[in-house]
Amino acid sequence: MSAQRWLITGASGQLGSHVVRQLATEGRGVAILALARQPDVGTEGVAVRQAELADLDALYAAVTEFKPTHVAHLGAMTAVGDCHRQPAVAERVNIEATRVLAVAAAGARFVFSSTDMVFDGEAAPYGEADLPRPLSHYGRTKAAAEQALADIPNTLVVRIPLLYGFPRSRRQTTFVQQIAALRAGQPLRLFSDEHRTPVWLADAARAVIGLARSGLSGVIHVSGPQRLSRYELLARCADLLGLPARHLVAVSRLDIAAAEPRPADLSLDGRRFAEAFPQLVPGPLHADALAGESYT
Ligand SMILES: NC(=O)c1ccc[n+]([C@@H]2O[C@H](COP(=O)([O-])OP(=O)(O)OC[C@H]3O[C@@H](n4cnc5c(N)ncnc54)[C@H](OP(=O)(O)O)[C@@H]3O)[C@@H](O)[C@H]2O)c1
Repeated sequence: MSAQRWLITGASGQLGSHVVRQLATEGRGVAILALARQPDVGTEGVAVRQAELADLDALYAAVTEFKPTHVAHLGAMTAVGDCHRQPAVAERVNIEATRVLAVAAAGARFVFSSTDMVFDGEAAPYGEADLPRPLSHYGRTKAAAEQALADIPNTLVVRIPLLYGFPRSRRQTTFVQQIAALRAGQPLRLFSDEHRTPVWLADAARAVIGLARSGLSGVIHVSGPQRLSRYELLARCADLLGLPARHLVAVSRLDIAAAEPRPADLSLDGRRFAEAFPQLVPGPLHADALAGESYT
């Protein structure tokens, strides 16, 4: 039996596919079970068990049969609009599945990816002690999932900001589509008044893996070093790719109709993480993050 047995949920997602890829490159000391709804998680040779997060009994069985030493719970209903339209499904997938997984994995190290969207955007930068006040149902389900883990030992909530970069799976993310539009010279409307501290997917995956191997419990913020609007993020990508930015159109989040309000500034304060794990601190946006295609 391998020394470390990793169970990854959301393995076909953009972050999950990077975590799977990085662990797989470590070789034989690590056994990986990828939980996903589809067989292709972007890395060959990885054991995949098809699992629906809303099927709580199947989820419990998958964990107890595999007996993981480490769990990276990265699967979630992540689209804000979907969570708003299907609130009960979002609660089952994002809250109940998280609770069941953590209980089933008792004894293992358990890392749960939460989000800067647990905050309202009115008092950035946010530290770990700041109280969540989500504006969206998505944010509420993630905050409730955090709460569900509060009394379960060995669990760590990692709050992550906006992620950028190419997934290691075939997932068509907003970022993938935006870069394709940039390359094609198509107009892109981007918020200039909604700020985050974005992190490259590969850096976020490294942080998740390192944190799972640490003894840390509770809540930690992993933050990028730059406070950027989506407009600024894509303008920098255009610059790095040598593409013209004239097709980027700055828009206000207040001018776009949305079912739920959009937070203005979700910048995370990542100093606690940086002090404890200096070797894992995410870097600024650089050309490597834009190299290659979405599933190389
Ligand atoms: N992306 C960001 O900017 C960001 C920012 C902060 C925090 N986070 C958090 O980081 C984690 C990973 O995010 P991500 O961007 O990688 O998400 P993603 O690309 O949307 O991937 C979500 C993953 O969850 C799976 N999933 C969704 N609903 C499921 C269900 N009912 N049953 C089984 N699997 C299901 C998806 O499977 P399918 O491939 O089958 O759909 C996919 O593998 C999430 O917890 C998210 O809340 C993300």
